[in-house]
Amino acid sequence: MARILVTGGAGYIGSTAASILVDRGHDVIVFDDLSTGHADSVDPRAEFFEGSLLDPDALRRALVGVSAVVHFAGKSLVGESVEKPDLYHHVNVDGTRNLIDAMKLFAIDRMVFSSSAATYGSPSTSPITEDIQGSPTNPYGQSKLDIDQMIGAVNLSAISLRYFNVAGAHLSPSGWLAERHDPETHLIPNVIKAMVENPLEIFGTDWQTPDGTCVRDYVHVVDLIDAHIKALNNLRHSKHEIINLGSGSGYSVKEVISSAQRVLGRDIPVVNAPRRAGDPATLVASVARAKSILDWQPTKSLDQMISDTQVALGLK
Ligand code: UFG
Repeated sequence: MARILVTGGAGYIGSTAASILVDRGHDVIVFDDLSTGHADSVDPRAEFFEGSLLDPDALRRALVGVSAVVHFAGKSLVGESVEKPDLYHHVNVDGTRNLIDAMKLFAIDRMVFSSSAATYGSPSTSPITEDIQGSPTNPYGQSKLDIDQMIGAVNLSAISLRYFNVAGAHLSPSGWLAERHDPETHLIPNVIKAMVENPLEIFGTDWQTPDGTCVRDYVHVVDLIDAHIKALNNLRHSKHEIINLGSGSGYSVKEVISSAQRVLGRDIPVVNAPRRAGDPATLVASVARAKSILDWQPTKSLDQMISDTQVALGLK
């Protein structure tokens, strides 16, 4: 039973990871400063250490006895990153440097990192393979690319997992773990909330896509965490791999809305709105590397992501 540090383990994806790692028999310590995470999302079977990536002393205390780190902590809103680029660089890049420096002190060299498709920017090729030259369109994506490069430059046994659009929820022994962002910017929770709150704004209907709305590649959070566990088991000595996590299939905003109407059995009120700054038209993952290196492929459909989110948000 390995002792694993989960940074950002009070957030949406990190709390799901911590819970599933405990289910699989690991000894988990969650490290989170609760700036955006929620204390009540931390699995009660895990140890909780409240601390910041910007506090090297806290990192050193949390790393005692740890054999691997799964690193989710960081700022993750694209729009906010455009307004506060220095903050994103400081928390994400400088914070990760602090983490790696602290790991070195304890000779911990195993890391799985939460990277993003935002590192690619707006590439002209689709599906996106990991070897394309990244050109992020916002400071959030740049910070993730900087971290991937930093990890590649030090002697870690590491895997950067580049998520496409993560959705769905996880039913842990202590209840649902779901997205609880404020404000919520992500499409699927917003589609579901539109049943009871304001109509869903469709950000742009004039994109160069089949129906004019943006195309994304959605992956269920439980499948995503399964890939993290496979990554932990596939770390190779002093080697850094970059692996996309998506489904390999794209859905337009309008297709997501249609699926939600079918799954929820309700009409979703929508209004057309201007394009959102920084949105690429199409982002679809090549998942060949995830299959070949991790022997991973997603198992849960878009319908499942929608229905789990609905139940987790209590809107059923
Ligand atoms: N969208 C709407 N209305 C909404 C919310 C979203 O039309 O209310 C559209 C967006 O414009 C986009 C699509 O739905 O075309 C998906 O948007 P999300 O905000 O759900 O997700 P993003 O693709 O913008 O971002 C996600 C992650 C980011 C990550 C990015 C990588 O949330 O952290 O993928 O591409 F950087």
